[in-house]
Amino acid sequence: MLTSHPVPAITGSLAAPGDKSCSHRALILGGLASGTSEITGLLMGDDVRRTGDVMRALGAQVIQTRDGVWRVTGVGEAGLSSPEGPLDFGNSGTGSRLLMGVMAGHAITAKIIGDASLSSRPMARITKPLSQMGARFETSAGDTLPLTLHGTDTLQPISYTPPHASAQVKSAILLAGLRAHGTSSVSEARMTRDHSERMLAGFGAKLDITRKDGVRTVSITGGQSLSAQEIRVPGDPSSAAFLIAASLISPGGDVLIENVMSNETRDGFFRVAELMGASLGAEPRDEAAGERLIDLQASSAPLKGVAVPEHMVPAMIDEFPILAVLAAFATGETRISGAAELRVKESDRISATVNMLRVNGVKAEETEDGFVVEGCAGNVPGGGHVTTHQDHRIAMSALVMGTAAQTPVSIDDASMIDTSYPAFANHMRSLGARFE
Ligand code: S3P
Repeated sequence: MLTSHPVPAITGSLAAPGDKSCSHRALILGGLASGTSEITGLLMGDDVRRTGDVMRALGAQVIQTRDGVWRVTGVGEAGLSSPEGPLDFGNSGTGSRLLMGVMAGHAITAKIIGDASLSSRPMARITKPLSQMGARFETSAGDTLPLTLHGTDTLQPISYTPPHASAQVKSAILLAGLRAHGTSSVSEARMTRDHSERMLAGFGAKLDITRKDGVRTVSITGGQSLSAQEIRVPGDPSSAAFLIAASLISPGGDVLIENVMSNETRDGFFRVAELMGASLGAEPRDEAAGERLIDLQASSAPLKGVAVPEHMVPAMIDEFPILAVLAAFATGETRISGAAELRVKESDRISATVNMLRVNGVKAEETEDGFVVEGCAGNVPGGGHVTTHQDHRIAMSALVMGTAAQTPVSIDDASMIDTSYPAFANHMRSLGARFE
């Protein structure tokens, strides 16, 4: 349990922690490449550590040096080897799904397990296309973990249009496609985060990207080898979103977050915050891992409710719990639709988010594919005890809400925050939050 007490101001500056999506991909591609990659700025979250452990279990060498650099010596042409025991992905949907794509193209057998939250999440979205390519799976009832994967080195290419907007599905197929005999392609009408495409290109893979009638298609031909790289992981916009939100709702808020990745497939939250009345400063920095970096500044602002345009949903898919906090402090109604994917995140995020608001005196209603919040015009009662359902983003959102509510907000369990942002409580305290 942890309680966030109201404070007069959230102020200061700090650097965003390494991006979770890019950290997974850096370890995975480094582990597949020939040679030794050096990764700096890697997120030290539990999800990412598990991806490192799994790459090790599959034959890559993954070492953390004393100065925080990760050295990954890839398996290269030799390919992956079967792990000795089950691969435990903990809470990580990204690690498990991307690595299923990787393992599908190697003649190995692996048992994949995870925690209670991950074991309740749908895996058919991954096993279905990979089965069509030639991998075999023994899954638990309802296509969930634990499952056993039998990969093959005679994987067939596929042309696939995922039924859900999902970067994990797209990435799993591209990673499998790297080993398939021919050209595989993934088409999406709503573009999802493109870090796999960018980082695969950075490791020397050739991809073909086309756009026709609003559909983006990425193609990759199998049999390409990757070569080791030096990678600096950009700051995580999804983690920065919590700090920016805390500043916007704080009576005396003013924060500067350095080195945030600026990528149009990830910046939906910041664009919607601006639609709500926030004025954000963005100062360009250099580039890292094929991504642009900015310093992001936000101060206290009166916010108004909005209807979030559905086309922006994929670019802010992880930010709806914290957007709900902005909506609670805003004047008027905020409406989210076209976001049914939230039901199968680390928790059912539609239901968990609405409950987080309601126990703190905010009027909110679930819909099938979103939710509606009636804003409290700056006066959120608070005083609630929030059930986090093993969901790190519900935990962080509730704690941010407590910094500016009328009375403290507590959560049942803060431990899951370590999966994506272990420094969260320290960072928030350094900006003036009171967590006890
Ligand atoms: C991620 C993709 C998204 C996102 C997750 C990270 C990734 O999941 O929610 O936190 O790194 O590819 P979906 O692909 O299920 O939308």
